[in-house]
Amino acid sequence: LHAVRVHQPGGLEAMVYEEVRTPEPAPGTVLIKIAAAGVNFIDTYQRSGLYPLPTPFTLGVEGAGTVVAVGDGVAGYRPGDRVTWISRQLHGSYAEYAVVPAARLVPVPDGVDLKQAAAVMTQGVTAYTFVNGVRPLQPGDTALIHAAAGGTGQMLVRMAKMRGAHVIGTVSTAEKEQVARQAGADEVIRYSEVDFETEARRLTGGRGVDVVFDGVGKDTFEKSLACLRRRGMMVLFGNASGPVPPVNPLLLGQKGSLYLTRPMVFDYVEERAELLENAGAVLAMVGSGRLPVHIDRELKLSQAAEAHRLLQGRETTGKLLLTP
Ligand SMILES: NC(=O)c1ccc[n+]([C@@H]2O[C@H](COP(=O)([O-])OP(=O)(O)OC[C@H]3O[C@@H](n4cnc5c(N)ncnc54)[C@H](OP(=O)(O)O)[C@@H]3O)[C@@H](O)[C@H]2O)c1
Repeated sequence: LHAVRVHQPGGLEAMVYEEVRTPEPAPGTVLIKIAAAGVNFIDTYQRSGLYPLPTPFTLGVEGAGTVVAVGDGVAGYRPGDRVTWISRQLHGSYAEYAVVPAARLVPVPDGVDLKQAAAVMTQGVTAYTFVNGVRPLQPGDTALIHAAAGGTGQMLVRMAKMRGAHVIGTVSTAEKEQVARQAGADEVIRYSEVDFETEARRLTGGRGVDVVFDGVGKDTFEKSLACLRRRGMMVLFGNASGPVPPVNPLLLGQKGSLYLTRPMVFDYVEERAELLENAGAVLAMVGSGRLPVHIDRELKLSQAAEAHRLLQGRETTGKLLLTP
């Protein structure tokens, strides 16, 4: 059996595709044969050591597959059941098999295939909790969404539109602009070519946007604050360009009594009820066809390094999957 493990944090070479023993399901856990693992930017932070973890560890915060065996005390799951998961504690989805606590699993409804499920558990659920929980969007709100053609970006655009917001997306290329428009962005700014602060101000008649969703981080943070209207909210949620340096709270006052939050999706799906509610809602939207899932490409588990290279090299739009 194979898994992609990190023994020493670092660059792409830190990912080792290697033989591991078949895990046994401990009490309260379930052994799953993995159909697909989602690749997320957080995997690159865990690999590089930006988000430190005890080594060695198997990468991968989300996946989907079928139940093979259940540990003692597990009720509600049987071999053959189709399940998916997202977890802050690593249960290693870059692998052929994973052992996941039953409490972290979500049943995959009929009409949703396992690859679609693996593709939405992080990026889809993140977007859903951000526009419904972190900053509930209302019709009339204008949201600025960075990297709008990315995996999380496209999901944010789609879900912000579902809530009736006006959406301004940023992207780096003409091709990505098409992708962001297809996802529903009303306006798209190519921030690689024009100043997005000036454009966001112009597009809002000088007022500024109500909320910014910023997963790019270092390169966009300061200008993102400058795009906000008085008492607007900055939702900083990632470090695709690098982590943001320390922020002086006085800045929030100077820029118009702004709100700053730095959410992690895991804190919005930690409780069993919230996990089922939020992931269940996203999976139901996929099943009904209301939420199209854009899978950019599937790579083999042994190509995990190539997957990280593509993601960090800004060469993807939508979701990257690894299949055993
Ligand atoms: N806090 C949470 O709970 C949470 C949950 C999910 C995701 N996230 C964060 O959301 C962000 C997006 O994650 P994702 O997995 O959906 O990836 P993604 O958006 O599909 O890929 C990252 C995108 O960021 C943009 N980008 C801008 N500057 C970049 C740079 N210097 N290097 C690389 N990319 C750059 C690129 O789009 P352009 O080429 O258009 O600029 C790139 O395609 C990440 O920061 C991730 O950590 C956070």
